[in-house]
Amino acid sequence: DSAEKEGFDHFMLKEIYEQPTALRNTLKDKFESDKVNLPDLNIDSEYLKGVNKIAIVACGTAWHAGLVGKHLFETLLRIPVEIDIASEFRYRNPLVDEKTLVIVVSQSGETADTLAAMRDSQKKGAKVLAVTNNKGSSIARESEFIFHTIAGPEIAVASTKAYTTQLMGFYLITLYFGQLLGKEMPKELYDGLKEIPVLADKVLQNTKDQLDKITAPFDGWDNSFFIGRGMDWYVSQEGSLKLKEISYIHAEAYAAGELKHGTLALIEQDIPVVAVATQQDIYDKTVSNIKEVKARGGYVIAVVQEGDEDISHSVDEVIKIPKVPSLLTPILSVIPLQLLSYKEAVKRGQDVDKPRNLAKSVTVE
Ligand code: G6P
Repeated sequence: DSAEKEGFDHFMLKEIYEQPTALRNTLKDKFESDKVNLPDLNIDSEYLKGVNKIAIVACGTAWHAGLVGKHLFETLLRIPVEIDIASEFRYRNPLVDEKTLVIVVSQSGETADTLAAMRDSQKKGAKVLAVTNNKGSSIARESEFIFHTIAGPEIAVASTKAYTTQLMGFYLITLYFGQLLGKEMPKELYDGLKEIPVLADKVLQNTKDQLDKITAPFDGWDNSFFIGRGMDWYVSQEGSLKLKEISYIHAEAYAAGELKHGTLALIEQDIPVVAVATQQDIYDKTVSNIKEVKARGGYVIAVVQEGDEDISHSVDEVIKIPKVPSLLTPILSVIPLQLLSYKEAVKRGQDVDKPRNLAKSVTVE
């Protein structure tokens, strides 16, 4: 067991550190003369042109990856996207037909609700694209199309490298679909994606020394908040799930603009609030929400892009990620949140790799 951890104290930490390699492996051979090429996906442009809606279905962390996927498809392809938690989707008689492309996301490829949601969709005539880390799984075998994330085996219950490689999958699929549909895709995304593995490594190195400082505000607290807008909100949801799963601190993720409709009432002196503010087009809006939290005494740890010098005036701690196009930030901004949760769980003496009550793969309903 300890040999497989290759010197790391836990599988989770090892898997966090494997992300640059997992991302590199998932990217490998996916570019051909500066365009994305996904021949294994086996999807043709005639079929895709007939698709009038995408439905993304998943559970847990995979569902959080789907939130980013929805944003990408809608922003870049202008195709309407629904996203559902699999256990909701399968019992609400969703509007799915042969013109719907259903995308299921599942690290294990065996999650019972996701598998059932997929089979129901196929009965209604939809085709299914599986984004999975397990080629031999039921979901992989039964889907019409497949994108294989090459994260390698993920042992820790709390998912890390599966999530970032699922995000990589969504970027590649979006660009590929854009090409198939004859849409102009932003060049900066192609260039930025190739840089991601190196930048992920940079985030790991940069955040390492900050961990004591950014976990200290959680001392003595059993409640915390994660806020952000758009892409930053989706990452906040994943960050809060990580903290809940392994440190058992209650963490509520809230869309920053929605704070004043309820959650602001819970902000008290020094309560820890992680604010993700990497989205340039809505940056000022997020900062004004951060100021609302600060005015009520919250202790704010911000995640921003490099070059943001102003934020330090408005918050207590700053974590910086390398500058990339706003659409690409989730794959980097989640890494400090994974490390924060890990460090906090270790500080609290929790069973990091096997948190209480949770299973790696939920194969029964
Ligand atoms: C469990 C795991 C999570 C995972 C979820 C979905 O809850 O603990 O880490 O995100 O299942 O699993 P899947 O294998 O379908 O991605």
